[in-house]
Amino acid sequence: MSERPLDRESLGREIESRRSEFVSVLRTLVEHPSVSMQPEHQGDCRKAAEAAVLLVEERGGTARLCETDGLPVVVGRIEGPEGAPVVTIYNHLDVQPAARGEDGWTRDPFVFAEQDGRFYGRGATDDKGPAASALLGAAVAREHGTPVTTQLVWELEEEIGSQHFEAFLEREKEALASDVVVISDTMWIAPGKPAIPYGLRGLAAARLVLETADKDAHSGVTGGVARNPLAELCEVLAGCLDARTGAVKIEGFDRTWSEPAREEVDGFVASGFDVERFRRSQALHTMRATDPREVTSRIWGRPTMEVHGIRGGYQGEGVKTIVPPRAEAKVSFRLVPPQTSEQIVELLRAHVAKLNPDVQVVGEHGIRPYLGPRDGAVMEAAADAFAFGFGAQPAWIREGGSIGAVLLMDQHLRAPITFLGLSLPEHGYHGPDEYFDWGQASGGIAAFARFLERAASWKAKAAAL
Ligand code: BES
Ligand code: MN
Ligand code: MN
Repeated sequence: MSERPLDRESLGREIESRRSEFVSVLRTLVEHPSVSMQPEHQGDCRKAAEAAVLLVEERGGTARLCETDGLPVVVGRIEGPEGAPVVTIYNHLDVQPAARGEDGWTRDPFVFAEQDGRFYGRGATDDKGPAASALLGAAVAREHGTPVTTQLVWELEEEIGSQHFEAFLEREKEALASDVVVISDTMWIAPGKPAIPYGLRGLAAARLVLETADKDAHSGVTGGVARNPLAELCEVLAGCLDARTGAVKIEGFDRTWSEPAREEVDGFVASGFDVERFRRSQALHTMRATDPREVTSRIWGRPTMEVHGIRGGYQGEGVKTIVPPRAEAKVSFRLVPPQTSEQIVELLRAHVAKLNPDVQVVGEHGIRPYLGPRDGAVMEAAADAFAFGFGAQPAWIREGGSIGAVLLMDQHLRAPITFLGLSLPEHGYHGPDEYFDWGQASGGIAAFARFLERAASWKAKAAAL
């Protein structure tokens, strides 16, 4: 097939004519409640993966389910000519929990709905909409005869820490060999302001558990002598974290990281990040800081400790006068290089043991932070793809979230990595009434097609990468 170079205007029309196809792909993905965290949805995760295989095949590609000791990984290929460069695009198809009427959801999270150019449903923006955009971008490149092979890697355990992804990579690394890896699971600064991250924070999650009795006791009978595990746990948490400033008080913690360089923070501030817009987009009432240098450093360049939930005692209506026997706090730390989750959980363990030796610290999943190069041919191609797709130059920032697969792909595939994320802050990552929109999808399809076209010319110059 001879190559038909992309022209932005006619490509725009071509993409418009594929809108209903995009909607149907996204609908299919969204309507499988692929909540990797919840045991009752394991079957739905598998069905989502099987549906994804068909979606690739329907577009002239091949796809297979790669089994792991957990949920499978979908690997799709839209093959170019023999010897063509291979571009791997990573997305994840698992989603966070959601239920109608809970946490502010006003609709059924697993019934796809289109309204005013927005596509609603759990996972619409994180990360099924971007995955559907990548698939259609690859289909467009195929129709244009772009001499490139697109390899789609769709994980189903991203939201639970990618624990089986490393074994998958080790086993498949030859089949997965790529000239470049594109991660499509990150967020823009604002509409019209794309971002290309060169860093991601890591994560260390843990549970603190304290048991002081076997069962609920009447607080009139035992109050005064019974220990209160909820109150003790609150004290321990306060000993780990300054709740007002967010400073982590764990001994040794501050020796494990250093501030981002001054010129990095200059870049954060120059990215177009607007503190007030950010506050509103995340529906925060007030924040711990409002100075742009401070805010961007805090969310992208510094570690944090968070308390996600405290369990124990009576949670129903009214006040039930019991002394609870057991309490549990779910906590996590966002990490920056060179911190590791193992190291931080050990520091937490030692610190908690000093504060209250009866509290058990149970380490959960961990993800190492990632920091990659800010320049090079693949970064330039990603910037060019955004400029082509959206008519806007991206900002180079670090991202505050974590994607376990990134560092693992860096280590095992040894190909340059870049990012083409399509989500907007207002799309509501992990939040109620999550959505994606046609503006991001259509521009994203064009950006992917453009990136693939750029990559197609690389084989000859592979040494330059
Ligand atoms: N897409 C996000 C990662 C992300 C978050 C990128 C914020 C840019 C900004 C990803 O799906 C995610 O939510 N990751 C989890 C990983 C964790 C549950 C192991 C995270 O960051 O909490
Ligand atoms: Mn995601
Ligand atoms: Mn997520």
